Amino acid sequence: MTQLLWSDDFSVGVASIDYEHKELVTLINEICQALETNPGESKHELLGELFAKISAHFALEEKIMRDHRYDRYKQHKADHEKLLDDLRDIMDSHEDSGRTSAEKLVKALGDWFGVHFKTEDARLHRHLG
Ligand SMILES: [Fe+2]
Ligand SMILES: [Fe+2]
Repeated sequence: MTQLLWSDDFSVGVASIDYEHKELVTLINEICQALETNPGESKHELLGELFAKISAHFALEEKIMRDHRYDRYKQHKADHEKLLDDLRDIMDSHEDSGRTSAEKLVKALGDWFGVHFKTEDARLHRHLG
């Protein structure tokens, strides 16, 4: 079973943010499980739900940054946009081929989450408390 394992490295040190990040990881793992147990069925809806949840999480962080005139707003937002683009590509290719491998999803999101959580997010939440 392909899963994205939560690692203590992902923690930004703020319980409410870690909780939201863990929810995203849980949803990714649900999608992986669905991809592996029922590969022939479209996962369009689940991927759409993931996209909506990640977008909402990013929008909240970006609002917090704007409210505090956070100095790395631009870079942090650009990083968010990059992930949303990657996720859109995964969704498009899923539409075209009807297939997405759980490994591909975990690789794309896991690498990104692993780095983004412990760099930009950790800095943001350390900065703003
Ligand atoms: Fe972020
Ligand atoms: Fe985040």
